[in-house]
Amino acid sequence: MDKLLITGGRPLEGEVRVSGAKNAALPIMCTALLTEDPLKLTNVPALMDLRTMAKLLAQMGVEVGTQSDCGIELRARAVTNPEAPYELVKTMRASVLVLGPLLARCGQARVSLPGGCAIGARPVDQHIKGLQAMGATISIEHGFMNARAERLRGARIAMEVVTVTGTEQLMMAAALAEGTTVLENAAREPEVVDLARCLRMMGAKIEGAGSDLIRIEGVGSLAGAEHRVMPDRIETGTFLAAAAAAGGRIRLTGAAPDTLAATLGKLREAGARIQTGDSTIEIEMAGRPAAVSVTTAPYPGFATDMQAQFMALAAIADGAAQITETIFENRFMHALELQRLGADIAIHGNTAVVTGVERLQGAKVMATDLRASASLVIAGLVAQGRTLIDRIYHLDRGYDALERKLGALGARIERVH
Ligand code: EPZ
Repeated sequence: MDKLLITGGRPLEGEVRVSGAKNAALPIMCTALLTEDPLKLTNVPALMDLRTMAKLLAQMGVEVGTQSDCGIELRARAVTNPEAPYELVKTMRASVLVLGPLLARCGQARVSLPGGCAIGARPVDQHIKGLQAMGATISIEHGFMNARAERLRGARIAMEVVTVTGTEQLMMAAALAEGTTVLENAAREPEVVDLARCLRMMGAKIEGAGSDLIRIEGVGSLAGAEHRVMPDRIETGTFLAAAAAAGGRIRLTGAAPDTLAATLGKLREAGARIQTGDSTIEIEMAGRPAAVSVTTAPYPGFATDMQAQFMALAAIADGAAQITETIFENRFMHALELQRLGADIAIHGNTAVVTGVERLQGAKVMATDLRASASLVIAGLVAQGRTLIDRIYHLDRGYDALERKLGALGARIERVH
């Protein structure tokens, strides 16, 4: 199994280009099920999860063609097998996003329940309730959701929790429904907006994406489209947090600064100098960062997917920080591994109190989930000596060539088999 070996203690210098967003590309790939025409996507990151989604769609009958330069072409002339098997869904919970499109296109779907996850229970009750409100019958048998609907009908759906993929699921289903759907308490994440942008290019009638009230007027059919996937704001934030922790000066290109306001605000509070352009972000950190406290919240609040990286930053900051996780009930696994590197962290329920230390020491650690692994990489960049990170398959699910990009910024990092 691959591991990452990092020798810490060097500031980051230089320029890298951020990749397309995993969490936008995944739902957008599912829109291919909503039309017989080709969907051409560019700026698609080279990630394990995207390959899993392509495999999932292909086994349903979708033609999948990869193009050079981070492009993919999908075409569902016919959906011959409206089923998402457990073997694929268990490796990637976002597979559940095929449920709504399959129902809208085929009137039936059989999708494995995603099951548990390292960071929390993560039920899909809002997905199910929303589709049922649109007239679907959904039974759960033998670990599968069996769904049927002659034609989905528009409905007013007040979501009980703010859910990103739940909002995306219902938006896709409603695009081909009869009548109008209104989603209340909808997620406002930029990835939801990017999905709505693609659906509108396919002919969908959607208003309000980016707000907590989304209105979708169903249409009879959708056409193909060409769509450029938005930049990955979490990958961007990860590089910025790495530079704030390790020190130095980096420039990120191909970025979307307007999707990172909460993260940039906290980095400035830590003492970083930040300049933004339309698609560039430059950060410079001289000296030890100041401790900053964060509380995660749905967008535009501070992203839960940046929490672990900020815990690594707090581990070497000047002072004590409070890190409060409000979205997932078990998203502090990285704290125990950071303690192995010498971090001073005390956990009280959903709050971690991190007292910065002068220096971390390199050690062997283990990644437990995608963003936890990113926090261990950041800690390894600042730790004295060498850090060996095990189970980096977690990292490969969401970061496109991370060690190559960090290497280009001067980091001493290598993949060891
Ligand atoms: C998306 O997951 C992202 N994944 C996650 O990123 C991200 O952490 C999360 O949104 C929050 O921002 C993708 O977009 C593929 P939620 P999602 O439904 O949609 C509860 C990463 O690191 N809930 O918004 O699955 C749920 O348990 C990943 O890239 C219900 O109770 O998250 C959680 O507490 C990790 N019932 C809260 O809502 C439901 O039906 C928010 O979850 C759905 C969710």
